[in-house]
Formats: sequence, structure tokens, C-alpha cells
Amino acid sequence: MSARATFLGHSAVLLESGEHRVLIDPFLTGNPLAARKAEAMDVTGIVLTHGHADHFGDTEWIAKRCGAPVYAAHEICEFLTERGHDKCEGMNPGGKVETDFGFVALTQAFHSSSYEKEGRYMGMPCGAIVSIGGVVFYHCGDTGLFSDMKLIGEIYRPQVAFVPIGDRYTMGPELASRAAEFIGAKIAIPVHYKTFPALRQEAKGFEPKGVAVRELSPGESIELD
Ligand code: NI
Ligand code: MN
Repeated sequence: MSARATFLGHSAVLLESGEHRVLIDPFLTGNPLAARKAEAMDVTGIVLTHGHADHFGDTEWIAKRCGAPVYAAHEICEFLTERGHDKCEGMNPGGKVETDFGFVALTQAFHSSSYEKEGRYMGMPCGAIVSIGGVVFYHCGDTGLFSDMKLIGEIYRPQVAFVPIGDRYTMGPELASRAAEFIGAKIAIPVHYKTFPALRQEAKGFEPKGVAVRELSPGESIELD
């Protein structure tokens, strides 16, 4: 059992194992750091943490083209269904859905969630636990620090955590370090920085104790087993 995680820039991550290719927060078009074009994505599933444009991104287009199921908050799935994508798994924080690759569970996140082009409510902002190829990943989404990250870590025992460190809209490096310590994954990968001038431009200060930090350049992968 093994999986590969590829950082695609900003908060976008591709998780692969065998024939399964699951994309998290596919903001590629308009993402200055995007390592792939939306047209190049051939995926079997999409997981969304929330409805903001820098996460929702190319979801509708890729999901329809690939016929891929979307795992996301109930309201995001309602939106996609209205737009004619019928493969949606609506969820909410605390819930878990078994999948052909493992499972997806949504956690809480302290943030907001709207579809910015229309200001439409997109449900609760979430973090996502994705188990694929027997490897458990925790993508924190956009969030402030909360101490239940420790509980989430104890329950799901993720091997890898994707932690937003860019500050302003999410935790900065100092609080993100506390988050990574709470979660207790062996590896923490910083995300949601450098993309725009308003965000921190480097991962300096993201130094969780007892956790290995792997800073990935867009397009770079790590293998887990
Ligand atoms: Ni956001
Ligand atoms: Mn964001």
C-alpha cells in the first residue's frame, strides 16, 4: 500500500495510488504557481475544502470533463448539481464517506466559504482527511488554529498534513507550527503561501517540534508507504 502526493501550487494537491487519482482544491487556472494546467488533469475524484475561488478553482470543469465524483460540503454539491454535475458526495464536518480508494472525512476549519463570483453561501469551510492507498492525509483547508486539531490527529492518525502558513487569511508560520504539533503527523507540508503578494512569501518560521517539514516546490512529489 502506498501513495504519491504532488503539490500543484497554492493549496492544490494531487494524491495518487494505483488507478486512483484524487485532486484536492484544484485551483490551477489563474494560479501563478500552478504546476499543471486544468486541461492536463485526468482524475478519478475531487475533494474540496471550501468554496473560495482559490480552492474551488477548476472543479466544475475538471469534474465534468473527467466524470469525477466531487466530495465537498453539501451546499457546494448543490451548486455543482444545479450546474449539471451529477456525481457529488455532499458532506459536512464530522462526516465520513467510504470510497473506492479509501475514505474522505471532513473536519471543521475556522474560516469562511462563499462562491465569490456570486457571493453564494457554500456551506461550512472544512478540512479534509483523505485515505488513499492506505495512507492518510490531512489537508487542513484554510483555517485558523484550533486545539481540536490534536483530537483530529488522534482519531485519524494522518501520516502527512498539508498546513496553510501564508498568514492573513489563515494561520501564519508560528501558529501553523502549533497546528502541525497538535496534528502530530510525521510530515507537514506547508501550503497557501507565496501565491499572492498578500501572503507570506516563504516558509521561514514554520518549524513544528517533532515534525519533519517538507517544503515542496509546485510540481514536486513525495512517496508514502
Ligand atoms: Ni479561503
Ligand atoms: Mn484560500
